[in-house]
Amino acid sequence: MKIDIVTIFPEMFQGPFGESIIKRAIEKELVEIKIHDLRNWSSDKRRTVDSSPYGGGAGMVMRVDIIDKAVTDLKREKSRVVLLDTKGQVFKQQKAKELAQVEQLILIAGHYEGVDHRIHEQVADEVISIGEFVLTGGELPAMVVVDSVVRLIPGVLGNQESLAEESYNQEGVVEYPQYTRPEEYKGWKVPEILLSGDHKKIREWRKKKY
Ligand SMILES: C[S@@+](CC[C@H](N)C(=O)[O-])C[C@H]1O[C@@H](n2cnc3c(N)ncnc32)[C@H](O)[C@@H]1O
Repeated sequence: MKIDIVTIFPEMFQGPFGESIIKRAIEKELVEIKIHDLRNWSSDKRRTVDSSPYGGGAGMVMRVDIIDKAVTDLKREKSRVVLLDTKGQVFKQQKAKELAQVEQLILIAGHYEGVDHRIHEQVADEVISIGEFVLTGGELPAMVVVDSVVRLIPGVLGNQESLAEESYNQEGVVEYPQYTRPEEYKGWKVPEILLSGDHKKIREWRKKKY
């Protein structure tokens, strides 16, 4: 799978993509992630990517022509173009599963007051919000989407079976509570049933705890 991210803050991605599971997935060539500085598609000396909104109003809006040129250059034959935006459909595990199947995922991270609405209408295949709150930019939402998608690519997680039981594999269903050593700490005990060795009862208990 190839993931291309279009952003005006490419350096923000170095930390999260340089650690842990994502880092290993890149090293194992299970995913290729490229971060693109949108300003490379700007045509003026100051590398501007935004302008003031038609009709007036506060702040600046990211231009459709510059984002469209970037996406057109990056697009391969089979791609999914996703804009991260407050107006999008709220992101869920089912969507992460769907996106994990695509050959090329292009993520557009907005900034300022957002992007020209023609990007919603003409450039993006879909628009995703990561929740009903406002962040300063689409970079963190892009990282959230990438993290949740990459761990679903076959071979990325050591134990593929853990995916079947984890939260939201079935919509609205979360994983059972987990405990480990010590058996008792400050009088806080592990549920007896988990220490019983009776796997049938443990399975039933875990199901009830969903
Ligand atoms: C400051 S926000 C723009 C907010 C916009 N003026 C509004 O009121 O909806 C700038 C950028 O951050 C990103 N963003 C902020 N919150 C987001 C969220 N919950 N989900 C996805 N992207 C978000 C989008 O890319 C957006 O274009």
